[in-house]
Amino acid sequence: MDATSVPEGVGGTALAVARARAAETARPDRLFADPLAAVFLEAAGNPEPRARAAMEPEAVRAVVEMYHWIVARTVFLDSVATTAVQDGIEQVVVLGAGLDTRGFRLGWPSTVVLFEVDRSDVFAFKESALRAAGTEPTCRRRTVAVDLREDWIPALAAAGFAPDSPTLWIAEGLLTYLEADEVDRLLSAVTAASAPGSRLAVTALRIAQDEVGAPAAATDPFEDIRGLWKPPGPIDIVDRIAAQGWTVEVSYPRDLLVEAGRVGVQEEPTAAGPRLIQAVRVG
Ligand SMILES: C[S@@+](CC[C@H](N)C(=O)[O-])C[C@H]1O[C@@H](n2cnc3c(N)ncnc32)[C@H](O)[C@@H]1O
Repeated sequence: MDATSVPEGVGGTALAVARARAAETARPDRLFADPLAAVFLEAAGNPEPRARAAMEPEAVRAVVEMYHWIVARTVFLDSVATTAVQDGIEQVVVLGAGLDTRGFRLGWPSTVVLFEVDRSDVFAFKESALRAAGTEPTCRRRTVAVDLREDWIPALAAAGFAPDSPTLWIAEGLLTYLEADEVDRLLSAVTAASAPGSRLAVTALRIAQDEVGAPAAATDPFEDIRGLWKPPGPIDIVDRIAAQGWTVEVSYPRDLLVEAGRVGVQEEPTAAGPRLIQAVRVG
């Protein structure tokens, strides 16, 4: 593959997530299997991770926490998505899909229509890697290349989205890259396109207002990614989702990982840390 097709900037963040999923998949005690994650890394030329031996202990801790966060949210969303499809939801929209492979690995039937929404540079890379791997989704999968800061619903509709059918919406690792007013517009668009019974699953890092734009510590292993984060806005994301008419439930990655038997997460923050959010559209 042509190395120039590897996404950069915000699109490149999807590759960092794939790295964590590939690492988890390789563990004997893995909590999920995402074999395509390694395929994407290989297609990107197997970029070298930073060597932990050269990192300050604080940086190593940050890497481990980020790894656990990605594992936890993958486990959480796999469960939410599996339950939704078992409950009869046949339309799934993954916003900021990146290198998500749920349409390939969760065994969804062909009655399920999956819309993956992301930037065109991400899909140029992803589709090329998937074609080279010769792999097919189990469900009907459609890609929608848009900028989610703009009016993207018409492109989703053009791809066949049915607003009258209950939908599972997933926004995993996305909202951090949008300004607060862009998040509100996105939530309004999702809500307006959600038939009763639709579900929404969101992952939310907890970023302090003053953390954005501040110079990164010399030891910060996520300097590049953190530089792309946007201020969270004055109103908490859970309240903003609830205000749009959704019944919201919040859980925490550490609790989920401890319950799954993963050791080494006991010291990580719970209430002050990132959150796993699921919501149901009432009315
Ligand atoms: C951290 S990655 C997460 C990818 C995927 N959800 C996952 O967890 O594996 C963030 C994704 O959001 C996408 N994204 C960020 N801002 C976007 C925008 N304005 N429009 C479309 N996609 C966007 C990026 O291209 C990237 O694929």
